[in-house]
Amino acid sequence: MSREILNKIIRNRKTIYPKQFSGEELSKDLINEILENAIHAPTHKMTQPWFFKVYKGESKGELSSLIKKIDQEKFSKVKIDKFIDKINFSDTIISICMNRDKDNKVPEWEEIAAISMAVQNIWLSCYVNNIGSYWSSSPLKDEYGKLEKLDINQRCLGFFFMGSYDHKESSKSRDNLEDKVEWV
Ligand SMILES: Cc1cc2nc3c(=O)[nH]c(=O)nc-3n(C[C@H](O)[C@H](O)[C@H](O)COP(=O)(O)O)c2cc1C
Repeated sequence: MSREILNKIIRNRKTIYPKQFSGEELSKDLINEILENAIHAPTHKMTQPWFFKVYKGESKGELSSLIKKIDQEKFSKVKIDKFIDKINFSDTIISICMNRDKDNKVPEWEEIAAISMAVQNIWLSCYVNNIGSYWSSSPLKDEYGKLEKLDINQRCLGFFFMGSYDHKESSKSRDNLEDKVEWV
């Protein structure tokens, strides 16, 4: 495997927001292939704490209906409408859920870390497949979890919006490596 290719994928991956998606349909096979990459993330004690609820096609409407049920005393109509716009602009939305094992074998932070690594696998896979994507940790996620009746041991950690996008190479803003590393 070429180092240059891996470096390029990691360094060019970007957050692409739903309004930028170009609208071509993504195949279910491709989404499954990407999710297969997700579940190959590392997991302490093999708890495999990820659970993905996938909304695509008609079920995007179900997600919108659920979000519309959120109490407007808790979240404004503007916030809810903005979220629904994102659903409409996307081909697929993945609700990123944590599924804790009953014995809590490892601390919660380790499970969130494992799920974050799974999401990075998804994100990188999206980049190489010309899919724009972004992780939203929307404050609506807890209300969504209640309305979707997630199990007591499940929690939504956000939504991953996906849609077709022709990635171009462009520079990315990050602090200098020297500011983040101390060679001892
Ligand atoms: C856990 C997590 C939650 C995020 N939640 C949001 C969000 O709610 N809204 C948003 O605009 N971006 C969100 N982002 C995306 C970041 O804003 C984005 O990664 C950052 O600007 C760096 O850009 P890049 O992904 O193109 O490198 C989230 C990213 C992570 C890792």
